[in-house]
Amino acid sequence: MANMNTTFVLLLNLLYLLLITESISLEAVPSNSIAVNANVQKGLKDPFNRLSSWVGQDCCNWEGIGCNNQTSNVVGGSQYTPDQTNCLSGKLDSSLHNLKYLSYLNLSNINFEGVSFPYFLGSLKKLTYLDLSFTMFFGVVSPTLGNLTNLSYLNLIPSQFSGNTLSVSNIYWLTNLSSLYYLNLQNIDLSKAKTHWLQVVNILPSLSELYLSSCGLHHLPQTLPFVNFTSLSVLDLSNNGFNSSSIPPWLFNLIALINLKINYCDLKGPIPNIARASLCNLKNLDMSFNFIIGGPITEFIQALSGCGNNINRLEQLNLGSNQLSGVLPHSLGYFTQLRELHLTNNSFLGPIPSSIQHLSRLEILDLSYNLMNGTIPEFIGQLIELSTLDLFSNSWEGTMTETNFLNLKKLTWFSFSLTRNSLVFNSPSVKIRDCQLGPAFPTWLKTQKELLEISLVNSSISVKIPNWLWNLSSLHWKLDLSHKQLRGDLPKSLSFVWLDLSYNNLTGSLPLWPSGSYLSLRKNFLSGPLPINIFQRMKKLVTLDLAGNFLTGSIASLTIGPTNLWLVYLSNNLLSGNIPRHWRSMQNLEAIDLSQNNLLGNIPTSLCSLCTLNWLQLSYNNFSGDHFSTLQNCSSLYALDVGGNRFSGTFPKWIGEKLPSISKLRLQGNMLSGPILEQLCFLTHLHVLDLAHNNFSGSIPTCLGNLVGLKSLHMDLTAKGTQLEYYNQILLENSIDLSRNNLIGEILEVLTNLSLLITLNLLWNQLMEKIPENIVVLRNLEILDFSCNHLSGSIPPFMSSTF
Ligand SMILES: *[C@@H]1O[C@H](CO)[C@@H](O)[C@H](O)[C@H]1NC(C)=O
Ligand SMILES: *[C@@H]1O[C@H](CO)[C@@H](O)[C@H](O)[C@H]1NC(C)=O
Ligand SMILES: *[C@@H]1O[C@H](CO)[C@@H](O)[C@H](O)[C@H]1NC(C)=O
Ligand SMILES: *[C@@H]1O[C@H](CO)[C@@H](O)[C@H](O)[C@H]1NC(C)=O
Ligand SMILES: *[C@@H]1O[C@H](CO)[C@@H](O)[C@H](O)[C@H]1NC(C)=O
Ligand SMILES: *[C@@H]1O[C@H](CO)[C@@H](O)[C@H](O)[C@H]1NC(C)=O
Ligand SMILES: *[C@@H]1O[C@H](CO)[C@@H](O)[C@H](O)[C@H]1NC(C)=O
Ligand SMILES: *[C@@H]1O[C@H](CO)[C@@H](O)[C@H](O)[C@H]1NC(C)=O
Ligand SMILES: *[C@@H]1O[C@H](CO)[C@@H](O)[C@H](O)[C@H]1NC(C)=O
Ligand SMILES: *[C@@H]1O[C@H](CO)[C@@H](O)[C@H](O)[C@H]1NC(C)=O
Ligand SMILES: *[C@@H]1O[C@H](CO)[C@@H](O)[C@H](O)[C@H]1NC(C)=O
Ligand SMILES: *[C@@H]1O[C@H](CO)[C@@H](O)[C@H](O)[C@H]1NC(C)=O
Repeated sequence: MANMNTTFVLLLNLLYLLLITESISLEAVPSNSIAVNANVQKGLKDPFNRLSSWVGQDCCNWEGIGCNNQTSNVVGGSQYTPDQTNCLSGKLDSSLHNLKYLSYLNLSNINFEGVSFPYFLGSLKKLTYLDLSFTMFFGVVSPTLGNLTNLSYLNLIPSQFSGNTLSVSNIYWLTNLSSLYYLNLQNIDLSKAKTHWLQVVNILPSLSELYLSSCGLHHLPQTLPFVNFTSLSVLDLSNNGFNSSSIPPWLFNLIALINLKINYCDLKGPIPNIARASLCNLKNLDMSFNFIIGGPITEFIQALSGCGNNINRLEQLNLGSNQLSGVLPHSLGYFTQLRELHLTNNSFLGPIPSSIQHLSRLEILDLSYNLMNGTIPEFIGQLIELSTLDLFSNSWEGTMTETNFLNLKKLTWFSFSLTRNSLVFNSPSVKIRDCQLGPAFPTWLKTQKELLEISLVNSSISVKIPNWLWNLSSLHWKLDLSHKQLRGDLPKSLSFVWLDLSYNNLTGSLPLWPSGSYLSLRKNFLSGPLPINIFQRMKKLVTLDLAGNFLTGSIASLTIGPTNLWLVYLSNNLLSGNIPRHWRSMQNLEAIDLSQNNLLGNIPTSLCSLCTLNWLQLSYNNFSGDHFSTLQNCSSLYALDVGGNRFSGTFPKWIGEKLPSISKLRLQGNMLSGPILEQLCFLTHLHVLDLAHNNFSGSIPTCLGNLVGLKSLHMDLTAKGTQLEYYNQILLENSIDLSRNNLIGEILEVLTNLSLLITLNLLWNQLMEKIPENIVVLRNLEILDFSCNHLSGSIPPFMSSTF
């Protein structure tokens, strides 16, 4: 029976060493137990609450810890169940070797951010199983792992969110780990092992699964004197740029291979010559996104499929995005277990081979972006497991009938284009994407029983929208007919969840309907008032984009919106009146654009009760007042544009103090006066500054030249992982516009620090003295205007043409 005190000491030591940062707190609680309080401190995050089991007397019961059995016989990682005998045998004291009986350590998914790779692991000599996946350690993987000679499972894949990379100085230490069965070094920088990585892994006799994807490897030897790792069943080398080398023949001597991934490897050259039946265990082969040339691929497919009486095991074959050509071979039909066939983005020719009809398990058939022709054969309709059928961008012709699709009940993605002739089909959940249809509106849509989505993004239809389209009872989900010059009145009500009719010539008033979630009618000719009950009728709205129409009336209805409302764009209409007071919190509203309307009055404070608001556009209205300081509490604002209004007062110094995230600030075209205050430079994320056309006086603040934001590109945004469409609106460029003010003094030398500046406009001020000579370092400038100042001196030669 384990002694509790020794258990305690053991684990304290372990944790102490793991967490030298003190970011985890351990407290000994009286009465023989340990409390591990892992979540309270900064730094250590344990999203899966793993450490919560680290309580109690017997460490061997703690999740992630296992103790050695005298006869430990681990083979495959996943079935391993830690055994608990012997957990506490041996002499225990405070030094490391006390842990030498630990055989199983799984710290995966615990966030040790900022902790360097734990060197002491090299002393846990009995470890057979070490899982440090997604742990965010940084630095160099300790070569002392080479002491763990009984290790059979080693997983070091870092978290993708880890800012720091884990790297190695070499991997020779791996040669010691002769029991290694599973090795995952994915996403670890192995570039320092470029000359020896293959020799080392080749020596490991028991290696069965090897994951080396995204390891910065650039060298793939074409020959190996001997191929030793023949028990390899999984080899993942994807996403390493092997510098245009050919596919090495030894790859196809790995007879035990089940999964082979060499996609995104910058491999060039001919389709490999492989011996017939050399890879009869293969289930998944991914060679996509390389530059493999050649064709027809008949021999290659025959070699893969010619396994004699054995059944072909291949389940996934991905040759997409290469430069393969020729007609597809009949032998594809031998892969009777095939579930996915990806041949997209090559130059395959000819028809769909009839042998495809034998692939009764096929779920994904992607032949898009090739040069194939002929009709779409009826037997496609017999592949009843198909969920994705992508035939887009080939030269199909002929007529498709219902029979093509009658039985494809699992089809969720279907994409095709036809060069000519008619088309009739019937299938559940059809998505019609990018079909080249038109110029007439495709009437065959009328006959479809269930349509999930119509998005004719690139068709050239320019007609009056037929009335039947609006109550196409089969279509409820998505209609995307943007950019079509469609004419006609919108009906009063609709049924789509997602409706994009932006950039057309539609007329009428705004329809309202309860199921609408995404609604874009941007740039049409809609008229009439913005309905006062818009949010009562459309409670599911997430995106509302009505910019660029002729809508009138007040915006009083906006203050209480649906919970999920995210974006509201109403710019460029004829809306009038005040911005309403009494905004209620909408938990998700991030962007409001009211620019270019006839709104007036003050901006109410309650707008800032929208605590997620980060994009506010109020430009070109008639707002007035001494300032817009009512926005002081909108602390998450990221872009603020109040340009082209009638605000007066001095420079709003609170912006620097209260709105720290501002990246784009436009106060242009108001009546603001007084000096531009240094508080402006608190805005470290600033990229776009436009103070033009006011009455600012005094000199340009020196600190501007040191603003981090203006010195960098918008990396900080992308780093946030934000892919919001409206962020794209922010210029991917740094600019300063101070033109048309009364600024005096000199053009600061320090502005030449801002080498990524695209615009520097100082036109019409009272600036004196000469242009800084090293202004030439601003190589990215596209607009530079100093004219109408009192400058003297010579114009730097490179820019003479600008003036
Ligand atoms: C651990 O060892 C004990 C006794 O030596 C044995 O009975 C038990 O089956 C072993 N467990 C495993 C998982 O090998
Ligand atoms: C290690 O722990 C993680 C998180 O609990 C778990 O997902 C993973 O399966 C464990 N590893 C093994 C093979 O037991
Ligand atoms: C482990 O191996 C290294 C050599 O790689 C050696 O220097 C070290 O002393 C060994 N022992 C421990 C406990 O790390
Ligand atoms: C490795 O395993 C073998 C067999 O189980 C055992 O005899 C040996 O002591 C182990 N080595 C270490 C360093 O624990
Ligand atoms: C290999 O293992 C032995 C025995 O543990 C150790 O002495 C040696 O340092 C290790 N070598 C490497 C390269 O880690
Ligand atoms: C190849 O593997 C065998 C064990 O399968 C081993 O005995 C031999 O030393 C290895 N060869 C080399 C050169 O590492
Ligand atoms: C890639 O190959 C070219 C020519 O073979 C060579 O000059 C270049 O250094 C290689 N680059 C890397 C990263 O290995
Ligand atoms: C097509 O394949 C090439 C490489 O062979 C790749 O660069 C390109 O991105 C692929 N195109 C698509 C749409 O996947
Ligand atoms: C299909 O294309 C091939 C050339 O790639 C051509 O010889 C053949 O006539 C075409 N078939 C049809 C039906 O257009
Ligand atoms: C749209 O069609 C034009 C001309 O037909 C073509 O050049 C363009 O690549 C197409 N765009 C897409 C996204 O398919
Ligand atoms: C929808 O169809 C019904 C009956 O077919 C018709 O009365 C109605 O006017 C149609 N609605 C629209 C908007 O076309
Ligand atoms: C659509 O409106 C634009 C003006 O915005 C006009 O130039 C175009 O001719 C119109 N197209 C149709 C088909 O009415």
